[in-house]
Amino acid sequence: MSDSHAEAVSRYLEWAKLHSPARYNLAVSGVLDCPLAELPVRIEDLELAGTGPYGYAPLLERLASKSGVPVENVVHTLGTSMANYIALTALVHRGDEVLVEQPTYDPLLAILHHIGATVRRFERRSDKGFNVGLGELERRITPQTRLVVLCNLHNPSSAFTDEETLRHAGEMAAKVGARILVDEVYLEAVFDQPWRSAFHLGPHFVVTSSLTKAYGLSGIRCGWVIAEPQLVRRMWQIVDFTYGSNVHPAEQIAVIALNHLDHLRRRAQRLLGTNRALVNQFLADQPGLDCPPSRFGTTIFPRLRMGRAIEFVELLREQFDTSVVPGEFFEQPQHFRVGLSGATDTVRGGLERISAALERFKQISGASSLAR
Ligand SMILES: Cc1ncc(COP(=O)(O)O)c(C=O)c1O
Repeated sequence: MSDSHAEAVSRYLEWAKLHSPARYNLAVSGVLDCPLAELPVRIEDLELAGTGPYGYAPLLERLASKSGVPVENVVHTLGTSMANYIALTALVHRGDEVLVEQPTYDPLLAILHHIGATVRRFERRSDKGFNVGLGELERRITPQTRLVVLCNLHNPSSAFTDEETLRHAGEMAAKVGARILVDEVYLEAVFDQPWRSAFHLGPHFVVTSSLTKAYGLSGIRCGWVIAEPQLVRRMWQIVDFTYGSNVHPAEQIAVIALNHLDHLRRRAQRLLGTNRALVNQFLADQPGLDCPPSRFGTTIFPRLRMGRAIEFVELLREQFDTSVVPGEFFEQPQHFRVGLSGATDTVRGGLERISAALERFKQISGASSLAR
């Protein structure tokens, strides 16, 4: 294996798949899986074959109307994962300079390394709530920048980037002839204010998303890219490298899900509303953690004020059977990510265990600093 291939690994996804499960698994970031029985899916309405050459027309139409764009702007993909892969391989060539937020979702970096891009970073600072700083972005964009990459909502912090900020970011990118890719997989987990896809801010915006995170529908892998038609044609060519025809029953179930999106949205809003109240009460009671109250999305990303966060995460895992994502996967070793989108009993139980583990950790850390 060459060095560049050795780098192109998502250590986070490997960890999430192999090591994250626990009795209280708060390492997840998607709304609790929606049972199939909650959708009006009848086996006699499903067929194994019947997709179109470039997407299933009823699905493409629904994705287009959901995003308020013509069908020519839509590529259907297997989740946001494939959407990001397709979008980045269409937009970036070996050696291109790409400016990526830090911290970020690490498969985005892995794909860029795989392509052979020159990756530069702009910082989203912990002490600024991980908000996008336009000054920082302006300092980091260069005439060589071909693409700016960010997530809205932000993973891991769930910070929301408003339209004004995105518009300015887009203008900075456009000035040097760069595009801007916004991964919006968590955007629909915003309930208390209106939101709109960044695609509407200009032709240089490309967005990716799916029904996975906000609707609990990871299993049907319904993702999409919204981009200019000329890019969409290139992206369908890249889809050709990966499969000839899509999983048709999944496309049909996605159509049914999109026909019942209001129901799925209310389900998600109820669950997240209940769990967010628990998380905010927990945060209010935890002086040992530095984290603003949760308002959006499915995760929080607290900073541990005392001791090493990785040791705390290990203690939590080993002695309390509770799993959170170590901040090292987001290049923030003093933080850890807590998911609030699981079953309420799991979230409640997990938070109680984090509280107990923090108490234990304080005693151990206090004892070891006294011993030094
Ligand atoms: C920012 C971001 N993009 C994409 C994905 C993958 O989404 P999907 O399940 O739709 O493939 C994730 C999953 O954690 C994510 O956090």
